[in-house]
Amino acid sequence: MERPAPREAILDLFHHRGDSFVSGAELSALLGISRSAVWKQIGVLRDLGYQIEAIPSRGYRLLTTPDTLIAAEIQAGLSTRLIGREIVSLPRTDSTNQRATELAEAGAVEGTVVIAEEQSLGKGRLGRRWASPPGVNLYLSVLLRPPILPWDAPQLTFLSAVAVARSIAEEPGMAPEVKWPNDLLLGGRKVAGLLNEMRAETEGIHHVVLGVGVNLNMTADQFPADLRYPATSLRLESGRAVCRSAFARRLLGHLDALYDEYLQSGFEPVRIAWEAFFRLAGCPVEVDCQQRLVRGTVRGIDSDGALLVADDSGRCERILAGDVRPLAP
Ligand code: BTN
Repeated sequence: MERPAPREAILDLFHHRGDSFVSGAELSALLGISRSAVWKQIGVLRDLGYQIEAIPSRGYRLLTTPDTLIAAEIQAGLSTRLIGREIVSLPRTDSTNQRATELAEAGAVEGTVVIAEEQSLGKGRLGRRWASPPGVNLYLSVLLRPPILPWDAPQLTFLSAVAVARSIAEEPGMAPEVKWPNDLLLGGRKVAGLLNEMRAETEGIHHVVLGVGVNLNMTADQFPADLRYPATSLRLESGRAVCRSAFARRLLGHLDALYDEYLQSGFEPVRIAWEAFFRLAGCPVEVDCQQRLVRGTVRGIDSDGALLVADDSGRCERILAGDVRPLAP
């Protein structure tokens, strides 16, 4: 990867120094730019909301950080093995999944993350749009090159669901639920969605992009009027704003640990972890599989991530895709 932008490099150094000052000469030598260009970059950071103290004889010191999703901000304190070693942060893009796919085709390393403040064409499942207003939520995509067979790739959706559920559960008072196959709910309303896309050939996977959208600080008026399913945000549920860069760091940490475990031990630990956030086991449901409706009692998911629904006679049906609606018992 190319040298980080001066802004990112300055933030990186500030984070390493903590409360200490960094001299203008040091920054200018590190970045290979003039002292006046350093001053200009400090101005850009201030415009972005960073409070930076400047004392002529000592240099610069970072006082406070805004909640922007800048790579250096997320990487400060990130201790992942693979995921997030490279982070591409964008103020605006059409879709982070699209950008990550292009980076994958261009040979980007496994674990590269693309994150954006805003998406103009956020992609949802089944060709739907994902509402992606600026500055409030998390829109990120992770590039993986897993050594698995293409038909096992849907297992990675469950892996990302567990990572998101664990990250939400770490917010005080929040009890997330997974909705099969790839939604997350808070209080019965959708708070996050997952969209995994891959390029594969019969003999193996070229790459997988794990797309994650989490409604963090969205307010009620920011949701589209024509939502198919009631939606919410962490802020609406808890009454508190969530620090987006800290949430992103946590999410990357969980993804990294789960992916490592998945590569070592396969899908079973992920399946068990997913079921811990699944509240519909044993409940009567109706599953809309586009061509037909399946009614029965949920038994769980199998080793492929298929939903198991038993009819009155106890005969189990494996469902690979569909919309699940709980029925009154
Ligand atoms: C869904 O529930 O329909 C899936 C929504 C997935 C949205 C995320 S936001 C980040 C990534 N980039 C996209 O364009 N989509 C996914």
